[in-house]
Amino acid sequence: MTTPLVLIVDDESSLLEFLALLFEGEGYRVETAESMHGAREKIARGRAFDLVMCDVHMPDGSGLDLLREIKDSQPQASVIMMTAYTSTKSAIEAMRLGAYDYVSKPFDVEELKILVQKALEKTRLVEENVYLRRELEQKYTFSNIIGKSRPMQEVFALVERVARTSSTVLVEGESGTGKELIARAIHFASPRAKHKFLSINCGAMPENLLESELFGHERGAFTGALKEKKGLFHEAHRGTLFLDEIGEMTPPMQVKLLRVLQQKVVRKVGSNEEEAVDVRIIAATNRDLSEMIAAGTFREDLYYRIQVIPIRLPPLRDRREDVPLLADYFVRKYAQDMGTPPKRISPAAMAILERYRWPGNVRELENLVERALALTASDVIEPLDLPGYLRETQPTLGEEARLPPQGLDLEEYLDTLRAEMMRQALERCGGVQTRAAELLRMSFRSFRYYAKKAGVVGASNEAETDLELEAPA
Ligand SMILES: Nc1ncnc2c1ncn2[C@@H]1O[C@H](COP(=O)(O)OP(=O)(O)OP(=O)(O)O)[C@@H](O)[C@H]1O
Ligand SMILES: [Mg+2]
Repeated sequence: MTTPLVLIVDDESSLLEFLALLFEGEGYRVETAESMHGAREKIARGRAFDLVMCDVHMPDGSGLDLLREIKDSQPQASVIMMTAYTSTKSAIEAMRLGAYDYVSKPFDVEELKILVQKALEKTRLVEENVYLRRELEQKYTFSNIIGKSRPMQEVFALVERVARTSSTVLVEGESGTGKELIARAIHFASPRAKHKFLSINCGAMPENLLESELFGHERGAFTGALKEKKGLFHEAHRGTLFLDEIGEMTPPMQVKLLRVLQQKVVRKVGSNEEEAVDVRIIAATNRDLSEMIAAGTFREDLYYRIQVIPIRLPPLRDRREDVPLLADYFVRKYAQDMGTPPKRISPAAMAILERYRWPGNVRELENLVERALALTASDVIEPLDLPGYLRETQPTLGEEARLPPQGLDLEEYLDTLRAEMMRQALERCGGVQTRAAELLRMSFRSFRYYAKKAGVVGASNEAETDLELEAPA
């Protein structure tokens, strides 16, 4: 919680003014309202109050109604009710409705201050819990990072091992390969999981802003620094700080970061004091840092500090066997989000997905599946439900498509190639010929013809074939 924000609601303007001064003096930000109406307006503006102090008897309604509304719209806020005289009935009602406490006027100022401190402390705990729960709900367990390909299995094993340490990790990979996902997985599998995981994009802001975001600043450190501010290194104490796009950091910031990593102390902008911090750093980049070092734009000493453990995420096109898994996973995930039953991706559509180059990697696949789910009316996603540019990609010819020195019998070669493709298609479709034909964009009739000719389909498949012929296409 940054500086606490307090709302005081009372129709007695002199008391309102007094309380505002009192709590501003305590270092809180204070807003006031003289009527229920005024209070509702402030709340409706959507600012999250940490504490609301409210008179029970207001000229335009009961403070208890306001309490009820606040519990609905701002559940994080602690509420203290104030009454002009001891009314046991409204006090009990206030507590029942979830007020933190109530006080009767006139009140003892010192007691009130302590009560307010305690109420704010409770808000802070609630907020922390909400934060932790929200992060945990996202369950960055390995089961939510999909990948059966060898390179991804190796990444998982590495993640598990580094999670136990506090070493600095550098995650490298093209855009959309899952760098942030991996960073979170490391944090949540580590002993630091009960503390915070915070992230910042080093390329998204000017240098001086980045510096004060990372290290904090003293009040008056520069024009506009009206209050003292904690930096992310402080906030992430005992947790993990994810420095995204580290390659975008300017050389002077690189020097400052290097100092923090070497000495494990940070100094706020405008301060002379150093404070020890215990923060695990995970950095990520989609640039080639070694190239940047050669070009003199990234410090070599910083590079060696951050890449104590390097994790390279391969582009999706180098692990195509993960495509069907990921696609199925996203279909289920988005169907659940949209509250609709999951759809099937037809083998032909899946084949297109497997063949595509995925310049935007997993993120592109995820977006595409989400879009296809929303746009497909039937319960099967077919090639036509995919964007045109995917369908246009032609298969590339491999090494085997070389004309041997002695030449070859082209027809025979094409027959072999066709038979091999049909065999693979059948295998992928669990022997169901209609699907295999679909996968190869062949009519069922010609599929059967060539299958017989090449002996691809055994006798056992004949019965199934006949049944399928009768089924509607
Ligand atoms: N292996 C995976 N399993 C499941 N989801 C994944 C996987 N990899 C990436 N994603 C999803 O793809 C999206 C992009 O991942 P993420 O943001 O981690 O990528 P990034 O490498 O940080 O990309 P950028 O460099 O563009 O910031 C996210 O929605 C993430 O959940
Ligand atoms: Mg990212």
